[in-house]
Amino acid sequence: MPELDLPQRQATDTLMLTGFWYRALPADRVYRNQLHKAMLLEIPLVIGRDRQGLPFALRDSCPHRGMPLNSGKFDGENLECSYHGWQFDVHNGQCQVIPSLTSDQTMKVDRIYAGSYPCEEQDYFIWVYIPDPVPQGAGFTKPAEAPDPAPQIEKFSDKYKLAYLQAEMPVSIDHGIIGLMDPAHGPFVHQAWWWRTRHSIHEKKKNFEPIANGFRMSAHTPSSNSAPYKLLRLYADADSISTTIDFILPNMRTETIRAGKYWFSSLTTVTPITRGQCRIDVVAAWNLFRWVPFIPGLLKFVFAKFVEQDRRTMEKQAEGLKHNPHLMLIDDADRPAKWYFQLKAAHLESKRTGKEMKHPMDGPVTLKWRS
Ligand code: FES
Ligand SMILES: [Fe+2]
Repeated sequence: MPELDLPQRQATDTLMLTGFWYRALPADRVYRNQLHKAMLLEIPLVIGRDRQGLPFALRDSCPHRGMPLNSGKFDGENLECSYHGWQFDVHNGQCQVIPSLTSDQTMKVDRIYAGSYPCEEQDYFIWVYIPDPVPQGAGFTKPAEAPDPAPQIEKFSDKYKLAYLQAEMPVSIDHGIIGLMDPAHGPFVHQAWWWRTRHSIHEKKKNFEPIANGFRMSAHTPSSNSAPYKLLRLYADADSISTTIDFILPNMRTETIRAGKYWFSSLTTVTPITRGQCRIDVVAAWNLFRWVPFIPGLLKFVFAKFVEQDRRTMEKQAEGLKHNPHLMLIDDADRPAKWYFQLKAAHLESKRTGKEMKHPMDGPVTLKWRS
């Protein structure tokens, strides 16, 4: 039986992947002209919105002597460090003013940069792009550019509703992710009398296929235990309902459920905060029940319940993981988790060699498990 390489033993840069967009904060908690702290991949950030409402993200550390910039003064355009008053443009980090310079001192202020990160608002979240670390000329590094825009939830009509929920987990991103894709814990962790019991366990067979940077559970009729499915059944024939679930590096799970003109779509991410802590953010969009006020609340309640059950489980698991136990991944239930580790390794290898990434799956695979 293959052993799981303990995430706790991995180096930070193989545990938390750079060169990707990450969700930093829910957009409705970030106000104009205010500064907010956040942490991604152990990088302290200060996040805010300028006068126009455009979000920005800077490293929460002054390039002069490391003062946290969140304690500075922000006028809606420039951020002034609270220690010696250096001022930085919040969108590119470029230094504007060094108050201690006399008129005959010719230091080129605009060559100095506070660390600055590409930042976008998308579907309820402020996303921040974390680039690969570059060899630094400290304080003189211009901001990196993101190769692609931040990920979006796939939507299938103009009108829809959006909701989000989040939960922090005291485990590494790897445990957060394999916990998310693990089909075998359902009957034990997500029991509820109104939902399912462990006696509802039955054998399942699902087809998977490789996709760019990830894998897909091919379109199928959703599990009769799935929450949106139970609601969709009120609207459509069981066999007209189909669902597709994708996992894409570094941390995204998308699920789309479609039934004729109705659809439900979600993008769940597991964000590394530190090496031992991650956060799950679920954002869902749908066009069903738009006119029924009660249903979205119910859906959110059900999701919140699920996420809370996962959170409590991982909190307990973290106790066990403290003692660095040997772990294992078994077939077929843990195969998606194995693919996740293989995808990560393949991604890092392709970055190291500059060659195209070699996908760990060579074609469609059928997995069987009981859950
Ligand atoms: S530490 Fe920020 S201006 Fe000196
Ligand atoms: Fe779960």
